[in-house]
Amino acid sequence: MEFDRSIKIAPSILAADFADFGREIEAVEATGADWIHVDVMDGHFVPNITFGPQVVKAIRKHVRTVMDVHLMIAPVDPYIDAFAQAGADILTAHLEAGPHTHRTLQAVRGAGMKSGLALNPGTPVAAAAPLLDLCDLVCVMTVNPGFGGQAFIETQVGQIRELRAMIGDRNIHVEVDGGVDLRTAGLVAGAGADVLVAGSAVFKGGTAAEPKAYGENIRALRDAANNAQGD
Ligand code: DX5
Ligand code: ZN
Repeated sequence: MEFDRSIKIAPSILAADFADFGREIEAVEATGADWIHVDVMDGHFVPNITFGPQVVKAIRKHVRTVMDVHLMIAPVDPYIDAFAQAGADILTAHLEAGPHTHRTLQAVRGAGMKSGLALNPGTPVAAAAPLLDLCDLVCVMTVNPGFGGQAFIETQVGQIRELRAMIGDRNIHVEVDGGVDLRTAGLVAGAGADVLVAGSAVFKGGTAAEPKAYGENIRALRDAANNAQGD
């Protein structure tokens, strides 16, 4: 994975057909997705349950781009090796998931993956400052994690801008997750995000068998973000 700050659209398969992940992933990749965002929820750290490392491993063989795994679980450390075995390229853990995030980020890199740090909307991005040298990606949540289709939290735009300034010229991706649509894509890209996760906004109007809308949705999000990048 070469680092660059070009806009990347990462469809979240939380909004895909759960009985057909393989074809859904192939459909969004064929129509322009840059990364595939995989949401793991445990019903404990967040109030919803999705799936674990065995499902992630099963879908790995359908991912040709980058598998971006977002852990919404606590604890994280006992499962790091399982997600490495499952083939995650990037493994993102929440700062709020435990008291030893520094150790977690070291362990993720030690297991051979890129490390991501996610921050809930209630967490000041300044909390990431001492951890930045252990991060390949910082994910600013623009909804409270747990569900797709929620409203974008506008006040997070200022936090994205602050994080981008903190990162400076370090090779760290700024990812935004939650409520990204044609309007908010411009806001977050303008504030310095380069990876835009989008569930509902990508998967609406299409199916794996009829993926034309997926391609139109991805292209429109990318255009909105590119027009705003660096604002
Ligand atoms: C929310 C997940 C997101 C979710 C985004 O907890 O982390 O990745 O799928 O869904 P939308 O784009 O519909 O807000
Ligand atoms: Zn996510």
